[in-house]
Amino acid sequence: MQAEILDWLNLLVRWAHIVIGIGWIGSSFYFVWLDGNLDKSTRSGIEGEIWMVHSGGFYRTEKILVAPTELPRHLHWFRWEAALTWITGMILLVVVYYLGSTAFLIDPAIADLDRDTVASIMILGLVGAWLAYDLFWITPFAEKDGRAAGFISFFAAIALAWGLTQLLPGRAAFIHAGALFGTVMVANVWVRIIPAQRALVAASKTGGKPDPALAHRAKQRSMHNSYLTLPVIFIMISNHYPFIYGHPWNWALLLGLALIGGGMRYWMIVFEKGRNPLWIPLAATLGVLVVAWYAANPPGAAAVAAGPPVPFAEVQAVVAARCQSCHSARPTDDTVQPRPGGVALDSPAEIRLNAQRMRAQAVLTQVMPLANKTQMKPEERELLGRWIAQGAKLD
Ligand code: HEC
Repeated sequence: MQAEILDWLNLLVRWAHIVIGIGWIGSSFYFVWLDGNLDKSTRSGIEGEIWMVHSGGFYRTEKILVAPTELPRHLHWFRWEAALTWITGMILLVVVYYLGSTAFLIDPAIADLDRDTVASIMILGLVGAWLAYDLFWITPFAEKDGRAAGFISFFAAIALAWGLTQLLPGRAAFIHAGALFGTVMVANVWVRIIPAQRALVAASKTGGKPDPALAHRAKQRSMHNSYLTLPVIFIMISNHYPFIYGHPWNWALLLGLALIGGGMRYWMIVFEKGRNPLWIPLAATLGVLVVAWYAANPPGAAAVAAGPPVPFAEVQAVVAARCQSCHSARPTDDTVQPRPGGVALDSPAEIRLNAQRMRAQAVLTQVMPLANKTQMKPEERELLGRWIAQGAKLD
C-alpha cells in the first residue's frame, strides 16, 4: 500500500486507539478507586456511598448491597471500551507491521521468516495464548490457589515474551507480546466478566442468586487485568525506548519493568484503600535502577575503545554508506518516507545534532540500520561510538 495512505491510517487509528484506551483504563481505574473510597452507609441496602465534586457539579454514588428487584431502564455496562481498544489496536498492528515494509517485522539475523509465517504464528499465538490461559484458570487448582497459579502464569508470560524475542526484532517482539497480553485482558472482559454480570442481572430479575463460581471467576479476571494494566501500557509505548527493546536481554528488562509496573499497580490499589506499604515504591525505585544499569551496559554494545581522534570525514563516509539511503530529505530507499523518525543525516550539522540518538540506535544497540539492511559492520559502530565519545566534533 502507498506509504502516504499507510501513514494516515497509522495516525488516525493510533489516535482512536489511544483515546478509547484512555476511556477503558480510565474507567477501570475509577472503579477500583471508587470501591476503595466508599464510605460505609447506615442506610439499609446500601453497602457504601460517596459524594464527589467534579466538573461543576456534585455527584453522589451508591453501591447497592443486593441487586434491585426491578432494574432501571438504562443500565450502563462499560463494555465497548475494551472491545474497541482491541479492535483499533489490532488494526494498528496490521498497519504498522504487516502492510508496509517488513523492516520492523523481520530481521534475518534473528530469524529468517517471511511476513505470512509471522502472521500465522501470531494468529495461532493469539488464540492459543488465550485458550491456554483461560483453560488453566478454570482448573480447580487455579480456582483454589490463585497465588500459585499467578506465579505459573507470570512465568508462562515471560517465556512467551522470550520466545517472541527469538523470532522478531525487539521492537516487534515487544508489541506482539503486548498484543497477546492485551487480547487476554479484553477476552477476560468479554468471556468472563460480562457473562458474570449478565448472570447477576438475570438473577436479580427472577429474585434468585447468581452462580457464585461465575462471580468468583469474574473477580479473579478483573484482578489480573488490573495487574496487567501498567506492564501492557509500558509495552505499548516501548517503541520509543530502543535502549530497552534493542538490548540483547530485552526480555529480561521487560520482565523487570513488568514486575515494577504490576507492583506499583498493587500499591495504587491498597493506597486507595488507605494503606501505604512503603516498601513497594522503594523496591520499585531500586528495580528501576537495576534495569537502568543493565540497559546502560548492553553486552553486545560496540566496544568503544580509547583511540586516536576520529576525523569527521570517516564518520560522514560511514553515515553516507549505512544511513543516508533512508535518513535523508530525499531517501533512495523506497520503503521509507523522507526523514524517518524525524532524522535526516544529509549535512554535517544534522549528523552532529543527532549524535546521541545515533549512539542509542547504532552503537549501544543495533536497532539501526533497520534489519541491518545496509550491512553496517561492527568496526563502523565502534568508529561512530568513538567519534561521539570524543565530543562529536566536525573536524
Ligand atoms: C532501511 C532504512 C533505514 C536505515 C538504513 C537506517 N535507518 Fe534509522 N530509521 C529508519 C526508520 C524507518 C526510522 C523510524 C523509526 C520509527 O518510526 O520509530 C528510523 C529512526 C532512526 C532514529 C530515530 C529514532 C528515535 O526515535 O529516536 C535514529 C537516531 C536513527 N534511525 C539512526 C540511524 C542511523 C545512525 C543509521 C545508520 C547507521 C540508520 N538509522 C539507518 C530507517 C532506517
